[in-house]
Parts: sequence; C-alpha cells; structure tokens
Amino acid sequence: MKFFVDTADTKDIAELAATGLLDGVTTNPSLIHKSGRDFMDVTKEICGLVDGPVSAEVVALDHPTMMKEAEILRKIADNVCIKVPLTIDGLKTCKALTSEGTMVNVTLCFSANQALLAAKAGATFVSPFVGRHDDNGFDGMALIEDIRLIYDNYDFGTEILVASVRHAIHVLQSAKIGADVMTAPPAVIRSLFNHVLTDKGIAGFLADWEKTGQKIG
Ligand code: E4P
Repeated sequence: MKFFVDTADTKDIAELAATGLLDGVTTNPSLIHKSGRDFMDVTKEICGLVDGPVSAEVVALDHPTMMKEAEILRKIADNVCIKVPLTIDGLKTCKALTSEGTMVNVTLCFSANQALLAAKAGATFVSPFVGRHDDNGFDGMALIEDIRLIYDNYDFGTEILVASVRHAIHVLQSAKIGADVMTAPPAVIRSLFNHVLTDKGIAGFLADWEKTGQKIG
C-alpha cells in the first residue's frame, strides 16, 4: 500500500520524505489555508520534495473553468495530480484530463456507486473519506471493502486512495482490505512507528550493552 501524506506543511513533508517511505502528497483548499502559503508556490515546493503524485485541487464547480484551472495547475510540475470533486462536472473534467494523460484524483467520494462512476471516468485515484463517513454514523471501512470488490469485479485500474484517515486502525484496515493508497496527516503516519514494547526493548538492550563496557568500532 502506498503512503501519501495529507498536508501542505513542507517541513512535515520533507521530514517524512527523508524516511524513504513517502509515495506522494495530497492537499486540499483547507490544508492550503492552514499552511498560510500561496497555493502555486507551496504546490511547486511540495512537488520538488517528493517524486510521486501531489494532488492539487481545483476550486471551480463548472467543467470549463475546472479545465482552465487544471491547465494552470498541471504546468507546475510533472508530478501534479489534479484533484476534482465527485460531481458531474468533476467527472467530465476527470475524463478529459485522464484522456490526455494527466493524473486525476476524484475527491469527496462517499458511496460505492460514486466510486464506480469515478472509475468509469478513468480516474487515476478515487478518494473515499473514511473519517468523515464514520463521523456521520456510516462505516467508512465498509465503504472501502465495497469499492475494492467492485473494482476487482471489473479490473478497474483506478487506485483506491483511502482519505480522511484519523488513526492507525484506519491504516491497518486499509492495508487488510487491499486499498492501493492511504493518505494520512503527518501525526498519524508518525504514530505508525510507535510501540511501547519497541521502546521498552531498546531501553533494556541499551542498559545491558552499557554493562558490557564495549563499543562498536
Ligand atoms: C484527502 O485528499 C483529503 O485532503 C483529506 O483526507 C480530508 O481529510 P479530513 O476529513 O481530515 O479533512
């Protein structure tokens, strides 16, 4: 499963990219606002920090204007992935862009039927929002299972990008279901490294090593 980080904070992105475990980045207008940076500037900088896809979202709601915005965004770098909402105009834009070889992430997916439409529109990625689904009394991970089943039934090439990830269990469940990608905030990705027994084990080994009075090298 690929790991994307869901942020526009370049310090966090650089730090996680240095682990070699980061496959891409997702942003959205709220994350751009949180960064306090100019959209074009920060997106360009992010594209230079990772080799993989960097999702940058259009804000227009109609197809012709979405295309104009996408035209500007895709010139930023070769690894820009245009993010469009799961609407009729968004999927028209998706179809047009992917036909031209541009990566598209269809965002704000909340049902398996919507995911089916995104795949039929040739989306590179579909982003079902599991956290927001859970928040509203639905089962986010059941949605991922349904989409996996449907995509496998028809061999759709669209990658399932689990979004709105809130905690490590979402990551674990995504991997068990066989999602292609998950995007999570930096804190959730960092939390995956942690285990109390790892810390305890290191402390115990170091204490005993100290007692040997030896050094490596
Ligand atoms: C995905 O691409 C979105 O940016 C993101 O995962 C939204 O998550 P949220 O529900 O935590 O805002």
